[in-house]
Parts: sequence; structure tokens; C-alpha cells
Amino acid sequence: MKPTTSTGELLGRWVKACKRAELGTNQMCSFDFENKQILIADLGGQIYATDRICTHEEADLAGGFLSEEGVRCPLHLSVFNLRDGRPQNPPAELPLKTYNIKVEKDEIYVEV
Ligand code: FES
Repeated sequence: MKPTTSTGELLGRWVKACKRAELGTNQMCSFDFENKQILIADLGGQIYATDRICTHEEADLAGGFLSEEGVRCPLHLSVFNLRDGRPQNPPAELPLKTYNIKVEKDEIYVEV
């Protein structure tokens, strides 16, 4: 399924990202807020948020693939752990920034 992109809504330091019901298991969605491009991923029912742009050559990870190891970049296939953002294989060397998330009343919020 193609990831959806929305524009976040700021509530304090939390940004409303997307509806929980719209993010299925092992799917991704994304949103833009100010100068941030953020990826939201459901991996086995656990939700993670990271920067969406690969640290290697700036591919959009929303076009990548989820697996048990994390999100795989569509351009050169580095896999990033969604918990800590660290690349699991080259060519990427730098980690993605990760964000805290919370779910309230079917809304997923990301702390910016
Ligand atoms: S752009 Fe992502 S691994 Fe190269």
C-alpha cells in the first residue's frame, strides 16, 4: 500500500500525524511539519516515528519497504532500525532521528 502524506497539526509540542485506524499493521504513513519530513510506521502493531529522508543520499523512505529489521531505503537498500534509527547495513552510516509518539482517541501524535 502506498504511504499517505499529510500536514501535521501542532498541539503544544505534539503534532497530530494521522489516525491510528488508517495505519494498518506493517504499513507506513508520513507527514510534513515545518521543515521536518516524518515517517510513521506500524511494525507488528508497534508504532514508530523517524525522519523520512535517508541519511545516505536523501531518498524518501516512504517509498521503501518494512521488514522485521526496520525500514529499507528504496535507493541503496540500507535498513534502518525503527527504535533507534541506526542503519543496519551500508551504505548508510548515520542514524535517522527518532521521535516519541503517543496515541489518543485514534490519533497518532509525534513529539517535535
Ligand atoms: S539513499 Fe538510502 S541507502 Fe542510499
